[in-house]
Amino acid sequence: AEYETILVERRDAVTLVTLNRPQALNALNSQVLADLIAAFAAYDADDSQRCLVLTGSEKAFAAGADIKEMSGQGFAEMYGSNFFGGWEKVTATRKPWIAAVAGYALGGGCEVAMMADFILAADSAKFGQPEIKLGVTPGMGGSQRLARAVGKSKAMEMCLTGRMMDAAEAESAGLVARVVPAAGLIDEAMKVAAAIAAMAPLAAIANKEMVNAAFETTLAQGVTFERRLFHGLFGTEDQKEGMAAFVEKRPGKWTGK
Ligand code: HXC
Repeated sequence: AEYETILVERRDAVTLVTLNRPQALNALNSQVLADLIAAFAAYDADDSQRCLVLTGSEKAFAAGADIKEMSGQGFAEMYGSNFFGGWEKVTATRKPWIAAVAGYALGGGCEVAMMADFILAADSAKFGQPEIKLGVTPGMGGSQRLARAVGKSKAMEMCLTGRMMDAAEAESAGLVARVVPAAGLIDEAMKVAAAIAAMAPLAAIANKEMVNAAFETTLAQGVTFERRLFHGLFGTEDQKEGMAAFVEKRPGKWTGK
């Protein structure tokens, strides 16, 4: 197989990536990270692929970073290898991707789900940052992304107690976009992904870039960034096509140019 710890399947314009370490509840070790970096880079570089879904198993999206791999390491090794630093290669993905979460999304599992453009959750999903119970903290961006997603109070309570949040709470807190019955999770995620994949590709990247800018900048700068990208799309064929198609009451045919 192409990868050791993940399964990759292309269905039309959608790439489905399934974490596949069932014996460890998809715990995220270095090999998983290496496989995901390669798979996401291949997705980003493949013009035939327009959206990606990352999922786990029914029982666990991922039960965290691999505790057994980390436990013996010291500061010099962690700092020297910039342990977890590779995840920024995953978050550098320019094209859209969705996390489809069933079962446990704990620690690093919750953190990876929060790296996605959005989370679709099964009603069986459970989110948590239990690192405090191991004597540490989140290390893949969880404290920052959880605080941005659900606000200080809930993020602080989750990190300080290590408790789990169920799907209903995650939805009402704004952590996930939508909750669906567990049996239909993958179908629904693939359907949403196919809908995104059918949009003008440059507009998809631009929409993603500008929503992400909201987490990095002031309102005035973010609005200017949005405006300039919006202006820029008027230099594309797909803007002409999209607006002509509307006027002519037909679906747009995109070129990605
Ligand atoms: C390594 C793990 C693992 C993990 C589970 N396993 N989670 N291995 N790292 N994070 C392994 C178990 O050791 C076990 O292997 C097998 O997966 C099945 O797990 P069980 O515990 O037997 O299953 P269950 O009783 O159903 O309990 C499920 C669970 C529990 C509640 C999710 O596994 C659990 O609490 N896992 C750890 C959750 C956690 O603390 N995550 C945060 C990790 S730290 P064997 O060989 O015994 O069958 C992290 C932080 C990153 O992510 C940032 C800095 C540290």
